[in-house]
Amino acid sequence: MEKEKFYITTPIYYPSDKLHIGHSYCTVATDTMARYKRLRGYDVMFLTGTDEHGQKIERIANSQNMTPKQYTDKVVTGIKELWDTLCISYDKFIRTTDDYHVKTVQKIFKQLYDQGDIYKSAYEGWYCTPCESFFTEHQLVDGKCPDCGRDVELLKEESYFFRLSKYQDRIIKYMEENPEFLQPNTRQNEMINNFLKPGLEDLAVSRTSFKWGVPVEFDPGHIVYVWVDALSNYITALGYGTEDDSLFQKFWPADVHVVGKEIVRFHAIIWPAMLMALHLPLPKQIFGHGWLVINGGKMSKSVGNVVDPNVLVNKYGVDAIRYFLLREIAFGQDGNFTNEALIQRINSDLANDLGNLVSRTAGMIEKYFDGQLPETHTATAFDAELQEMAKTTVANVETAMEKMFFSDALIEIWNLVRRTNKYIDETQPWILCKDESKKAELANALYHVAESIRIISVLITPFMPNTPAKMRVQFCIEEGEATTWESTKTWGVLPKALKAVKGETLFPRIDMKKELAELDAAIKASQATSIANQQKKEEPKHNEPEYPAEITIDDFCKVQLKVGEVIESAEVKGSKKLLRNIVKFGEEERVIFSGIKGTYAPGELVGKRVVVAYNLKPRKMMGEMSYGMILCAEDGDGKLSILTTADENFASGSGIS
Ligand code: MSP
Repeated sequence: MEKEKFYITTPIYYPSDKLHIGHSYCTVATDTMARYKRLRGYDVMFLTGTDEHGQKIERIANSQNMTPKQYTDKVVTGIKELWDTLCISYDKFIRTTDDYHVKTVQKIFKQLYDQGDIYKSAYEGWYCTPCESFFTEHQLVDGKCPDCGRDVELLKEESYFFRLSKYQDRIIKYMEENPEFLQPNTRQNEMINNFLKPGLEDLAVSRTSFKWGVPVEFDPGHIVYVWVDALSNYITALGYGTEDDSLFQKFWPADVHVVGKEIVRFHAIIWPAMLMALHLPLPKQIFGHGWLVINGGKMSKSVGNVVDPNVLVNKYGVDAIRYFLLREIAFGQDGNFTNEALIQRINSDLANDLGNLVSRTAGMIEKYFDGQLPETHTATAFDAELQEMAKTTVANVETAMEKMFFSDALIEIWNLVRRTNKYIDETQPWILCKDESKKAELANALYHVAESIRIISVLITPFMPNTPAKMRVQFCIEEGEATTWESTKTWGVLPKALKAVKGETLFPRIDMKKELAELDAAIKASQATSIANQQKKEEPKHNEPEYPAEITIDDFCKVQLKVGEVIESAEVKGSKKLLRNIVKFGEEERVIFSGIKGTYAPGELVGKRVVVAYNLKPRKMMGEMSYGMILCAEDGDGKLSILTTADENFASGSGIS
């Protein structure tokens, strides 16, 4: 019988030399789901990759004296190494610089243009470079990017537009008819109420102000908007639009796109609209997980609070870190990362509960039976309850995993771990062993514990790629019939004459006090290296001094400063900062925009003599040319004061020397 397919994706990551534990969280969760589905017999396609285009990458590469491709080649190698360290079992790694991807994105763009879903116009809006997103004035929060809180710049440029508005009602209808589409459910309400119902505007889908991206094939001055480029990866990776699209035919639609909550908007609105325009089915689900936060704030390289997964894996091993991430935080919600919580979990859940269970059981079989149980077992009064608990645990884990409630699944598994430890306390092997007539009961008790350990070893396989084998080797369990998912539903799979050899300690107990200091120091050291590296990269090149270089009088004379009289000053519709001034220089009048609205009311400037950088290259602002710049003093807090002449009536048009 043909296997059922399962297509799961992570977001494609921005290339960075410092992916942190927050980034790893998303990939570890997706990997766990992929492993689970493989274990359940699905034909799985697990896609991850890198999102390499855009102005931000272009700028970083320039600052490091590299081409964007040289820069991304370098960091992508590091990203792949990190995924190997974390045992990420992806089936395909896509780079948006891959040839086939670029070609298909161009095709998609052309198709949408040809069919009228993309049209050419001009765009004016506030752009956040780090987020690669445009915002309207009312979307800004205190004049800053609503997503990351950073400064935005006002851009006006010729652009192609995607008719996003056309798909608004269809997307709302789709979401309402398919409550499973966007998970957790709260995210669906957020999308409908905050974005879809207020109305979608058509989306600017090309840029002309930089080069690093997929060129629009029929208008190469334009670069495809990075989110259109990036989202397409989910289908280009499968060969969509190429001669061999067999993977696409097999795996599309995706079963689930796993994404962080801040990029749900792109996946739940833009992506479905693109797919509708392409007449393709929508992904079955988008799961928007929460963030790993530190002291309530998002982990971020610029804040300098990132935790390097390599430091954690080197100290505690990959399985402990994967366990912690998925157990500590309910998938879908934010969760705080603390060193204490990590060590606490390792000590209590892994060393005490699981590690201890395995080592004492193998140890008792060695000690009481020379490492091999006899064939004859006699039931104890506690067996049925343990068997029943194992059965319900498997069922509950399946339910939790279908909903991607990883933490719930682990809670269920650890309830079984603890129940098995309790079973040992109930059957008291250390008492039974003293009575020769109880040997068959003792053998039965240890067999039951070993069976439970076998089942646990299967249940944790998706989460912990290395521990199951270390557990099984101690009970001579070979990979095969006794380690399939289905085998967890049958009690008594192990041979009665079970052999055991005590092996390595699965998770050594950690001295919390000593370790906290060491871990803290290791994390700080890695943060310091990362900051130092960043500063090194940003250091001025060659012999450029840190402070502005001295200039000669000839240099200074290149700047022509003039006294001008402000004769009109008005607000600019749609701008919080700008005033549109008309400034008179003798007989000449010029329009000069100035970002001083926060400090000066429009009327306040009229009649003032201001100092203007007169020969500055004219610049388009808010759709109109601005000729020069009114000079202002600015203190450290961003407070402004215009430069004026001491004589309030000084002749306008006078030069400054
Ligand atoms: N390139 C886009 C995705 C395009 S997908 C078509 C992007 N890249 S990213 O590198 O910034 O983020 C990748 C993933 O890491 C996102 O899902 C993001 O939410 C996740 N995380 C980054 N920091 C995180 C935490 N601190 N906690 C949890 N996940 C976080 O967005």
